[in-house]
Amino acid sequence: MEIIVQRSYAQMSKVAAEIIAEVLNTKPNAVLGMATGSTPLGLYQELVRLHQERQLDFSRVTTFNLDEYVGLSINHPQSYHYFMHEHFFRHVNIQPQNINIPSGTTSNYPAFCAWYEQRIKDCGGIDVQILGIGTDGHIAFNEPGSSLTSRTRLKTLSRQTIDDNARFFENRDNVPIYAITMGVGTILDAKKLVLVASGNSKTRAVAQAVEGPVTSMVTASAIQLHPDAKVIVDAEAAAGLTMRDYYEFIYEAKPAAPRF
Ligand code: PGA
Repeated sequence: MEIIVQRSYAQMSKVAAEIIAEVLNTKPNAVLGMATGSTPLGLYQELVRLHQERQLDFSRVTTFNLDEYVGLSINHPQSYHYFMHEHFFRHVNIQPQNINIPSGTTSNYPAFCAWYEQRIKDCGGIDVQILGIGTDGHIAFNEPGSSLTSRTRLKTLSRQTIDDNARFFENRDNVPIYAITMGVGTILDAKKLVLVASGNSKTRAVAQAVEGPVTSMVTASAIQLHPDAKVIVDAEAAAGLTMRDYYEFIYEAKPAAPRF
């Protein structure tokens, strides 16, 4: 696992975007795993800028989103379908048929989840998965107690997540309590993971995920099991890391490290 501490949200977003751009430059038909929430907004803005100014090409890219609220139509302003189109897809040259987002309105959730898993496989697997982290340590909507081998399925949100997400809705009662989400096992199958975290509200979750034990109580800790995981944090989110100096030392020493 590589921990990259940046001084600001803007820098964190830039470094994360450069990693995604590098994957696309090496593999123009890459499969990207997308995340929603406030944190990846800067990363998406940066990718849009790279598309506009440096012709970063999405024409052969396929995407899979992590999750979606159950019960919200794709046009609902708080649906993740709407979020993705508004903040990213409509600004780049991605083909609409290459966009995959879990359905929040299917009539058969188990069948849809099985189909989503199969579709990821049929597309060759996810090359790089973008992740945020919840204040309760979740990745996607894998709330505390989610199996570390879980696959795409319906989940009930934790009270903490409902509280956190209430800011996007008129009131707390409007926050859906169910979501469809990739599982921890689905996420761990991606070839590369890029987790972004910013601000004081994430300090504890980041410390637990990176330096705590691997536990289903903090599903983000499962990324410790992944062979190619990068965690990019701003100074506030990094404040609880006991080995922070070492992570910064590794990052500074990286350009001179022998290449294999
Ligand atoms: P946030 O959400 O980026 O809006 O804080 C993160 C998450 O819940 O994964």
